[in-house]
Amino acid sequence: MINNSDRVVVRGLKDVAAAETKVSYVDFNGFLYYLGYNIDDLVGKVIYAEIAYLLIHKRLPNKQELDNFKDELVTAMHLPEPIVDSIKRTPKTCHPMDILRTEVSHLGEYDVEGKDFSEAANYRRATRLIAQLPVIVATIHRSRLNQSVPEPKREYGFAENFLHMFKGVVPDESETNVLHRYMTLHADHGFNASTFAARVVASTNSDMYSSVSAAIGALKGPLHGGASEKVMDMLDDINLEEEVEEYIYGLLGDQKKIMGFGHRIYRAQDPRTKHLRGMVEDLCHRERTLGLYNKCIKIEQIVFNRKKIYPNVDFYAAVTMDALGIPKEFFTPFFASSRISGWVAHVIEQYEDAVLLRPESKYIGEFNKPFIPIENR
Ligand code: CMC
Repeated sequence: MINNSDRVVVRGLKDVAAAETKVSYVDFNGFLYYLGYNIDDLVGKVIYAEIAYLLIHKRLPNKQELDNFKDELVTAMHLPEPIVDSIKRTPKTCHPMDILRTEVSHLGEYDVEGKDFSEAANYRRATRLIAQLPVIVATIHRSRLNQSVPEPKREYGFAENFLHMFKGVVPDESETNVLHRYMTLHADHGFNASTFAARVVASTNSDMYSSVSAAIGALKGPLHGGASEKVMDMLDDINLEEEVEEYIYGLLGDQKKIMGFGHRIYRAQDPRTKHLRGMVEDLCHRERTLGLYNKCIKIEQIVFNRKKIYPNVDFYAAVTMDALGIPKEFFTPFFASSRISGWVAHVIEQYEDAVLLRPESKYIGEFNKPFIPIENR
């Protein structure tokens, strides 16, 4: 044990390794690996279900395993009726992330495997959660529009079902491909704040729903996944490309952070950005919204010139979501619907590690203060 006075506080836990992991590696030189695979070798070559399988089963599936997994996902793309009712009763003013957090916790009450916390049950639970988060997100959106959620179809892939259930129209192939890439790029990212929150909860041997609820709460914050919604607020605020410079200089002059920029780990470009930027360029060409793409490029140049920092995943993810027709309050729920595969993979790994995550603090308060009874205070 170390005496309180000798303890060294690492502010923000920068550079602290809290556990070992094989799930993913964030290399500050600008590389990201899932189970040893460089994401640059995966994006565009895999569908999201392959990545979800890779993360939880720690290897890529063969054709038969992938077909079975996709089948399991579609089968699980249903919610217990009380969850659907609860979503419909929630005031429309609530942020979708608050409803998502509540309903994931609520799902735990209806788990078909109850208190079976065996390894096999946890793999099945992880698969169900991967399937059910997008359905909760789609149900929140469609119930706000007073419209029903289309049934998932076996002949559709997972991303296709997600978009269909969310928007109520069958997506075309290019939209589906964009969502596969987006979900692949958001599936995992080392010990980010939400994953760490999930692992802390799992380390107490608590259940997977509690871990994922904690993760959703952490992801919601604007310094983490909540940044993408704020990026869109900023882009909406800047009317014209010509106004970018004044707007960004104004924020920096006021010592404000530019949302969607900077990163705790990367000292080079975030490796996810180039994929998202490319998709945004294609989508903006297609939608004839090149002005939006040009605005982004200009912001990127100005922020780099002034601060030497790069865009992070949330910057172009916001525009990708917008181009797919997703309302901005649903950007972070789409992030959560992709990161769920990473969260459950880490929860399973934490169960295997079987150690309580319980750090120390350095006490800087007073000692032995004289007690004053309440009538004398
Ligand atoms: N805009 C302007 N300056 C920035 C920004 C930014 N977005 N990010 C970092 N800086 C500056 C910061 O002011 C500081 O400068 P100085 O050394 O002169 O004081 C320096 O860069 C280091 O910043 P920091 O805040 O100490 O770095 P951190 O590692 O604690 O924070 C961060 C990382 C992601 C919280 C921060 O970059 C930030 O707040 N970014 C905006 C929010 C955002 O986009 N979040 C998404 C994060 S990545 C994806 C995800 O998790 O969803």
